[in-house]
Amino acid sequence: MAKLERANFSSKLGVILATAGSAVGLGNIWRFPYMTGENGGAVFIIIYVACVLLLGIPCMISEFIIGRHGQANTARSYSKMAGGSPWKLIGYMGVLTGFLITGYYAVVAGWCLQYVWASLIGHMQGAPEYFKTYFSAFSSDAVKPIFWTIIILLITYLIIEHGVRDGIERASKLLMPMLFLLLLIIVGASCLLPGADKGIEFLFKPDFTAFNSDVFLAALGQSFYSLSIAMGCICTYASYFSRQTNLTKSAIQIGVIDSLVAILAGLMIFPAAFSVGVNPDSGPSLIFITLPNVFQQAFAAIPVVGYVIALLFFLLLSLAALTSLMSLHEVSTAFFQEEFVLTRKKAALIVTILTCIIGAFCSLSLGAVGHVLEFSGRSLFDWFDFITGQIFLPIVGFLTCIFLGWFVPHKIVRDEFTNWGTLRGRYFHLYILLVKYVCPICILFIFLHQFGLI
Ligand code: PHE
Repeated sequence: MAKLERANFSSKLGVILATAGSAVGLGNIWRFPYMTGENGGAVFIIIYVACVLLLGIPCMISEFIIGRHGQANTARSYSKMAGGSPWKLIGYMGVLTGFLITGYYAVVAGWCLQYVWASLIGHMQGAPEYFKTYFSAFSSDAVKPIFWTIIILLITYLIIEHGVRDGIERASKLLMPMLFLLLLIIVGASCLLPGADKGIEFLFKPDFTAFNSDVFLAALGQSFYSLSIAMGCICTYASYFSRQTNLTKSAIQIGVIDSLVAILAGLMIFPAAFSVGVNPDSGPSLIFITLPNVFQQAFAAIPVVGYVIALLFFLLLSLAALTSLMSLHEVSTAFFQEEFVLTRKKAALIVTILTCIIGAFCSLSLGAVGHVLEFSGRSLFDWFDFITGQIFLPIVGFLTCIFLGWFVPHKIVRDEFTNWGTLRGRYFHLYILLVKYVCPICILFIFLHQFGLI
């Protein structure tokens, strides 16, 4: 009976919104739209959706299987599945990846909060140059970004501390609908601007000549990051799924929501940018420099609309970042709680303090003491990004597929896949085929490609 006492999500909606909350994050807004525009528009979207369906979703289902089977934090879930063999180390690596990302993701999430505040008090107005100076002055400041990093981690702590149902699930049910609403409002405003059709065309017009292997690998990498795969998040959340949760259906629904938000983010950015003739870029400079300027110019005729849209936009980013941060924080909180037998509150507090420290160092490496915290020409912040995203993520993803596809008895996998025979499991063979061969090979390609080896 002890097993039944483990916390779980109370409803299907809770499962979908919480997991989609993890998936929908800054990656959807600051990378996807730009990659689409640069890589052949509609062609990229088709490849991306194919990557989500054929590779992202099987990997997500694999993590679901391990997490729900283990009914424990990621490290312990892998250990249970591995039965004492060294495969359990993948779980530890997943927890470490999640933990390290929490610190630096919180820095960027903190920037979003600061920009909500700056928009509110009317600081997001000025000449195009102003936004650039504002961002570089702010992000390299020694105090302000750390302050906001701590604030966002404290908010995350307050949610996580309340537990799975009253914390994560309740917050997701409130925040995700808000996020969709904000997104739709901004998409509406952006698409109604004069000349918006050029942006829509840029985003959706298929350019088949743009297709090459780089585009494919970019789409693949983006789909993994965007679905929060290989960071422990999906596995941890799955440990809170009930025995009735249909894993395949849930993974498909989450993949669809995540892709839809990414496409809508494109419809929010490109029409506005094209209507004022600004060329959008990607990454932090897109959301913290280019877009505030674009919104201001696009709605110059009615400045109050520009003010409101900028405010809503940063609120949207903060919500997206917060729900992802919750899932990252939960990876380590569940780990500390269960492995060191702590109360949830204590475990969450330890994780919050440690990630505040990591965040502070990452933030400082971008400015005040950058030269001290720079190694081999990369700031500490960039190192975290590089090690987690480009090394740990592919390794954990690759090994998870090999482990489930080749080493775990198929009976266990099938039982989880079909909810112990209560579902038909029509796609089981396809799933096994993908996890055994297709996913690991594709992940290996991305890995080798990013180091210039192929
Ligand atoms: N999926 C999130 C995004 O698209 C990022 C993320 C990665 C969140 C890993 C949690 C874990 O922004």
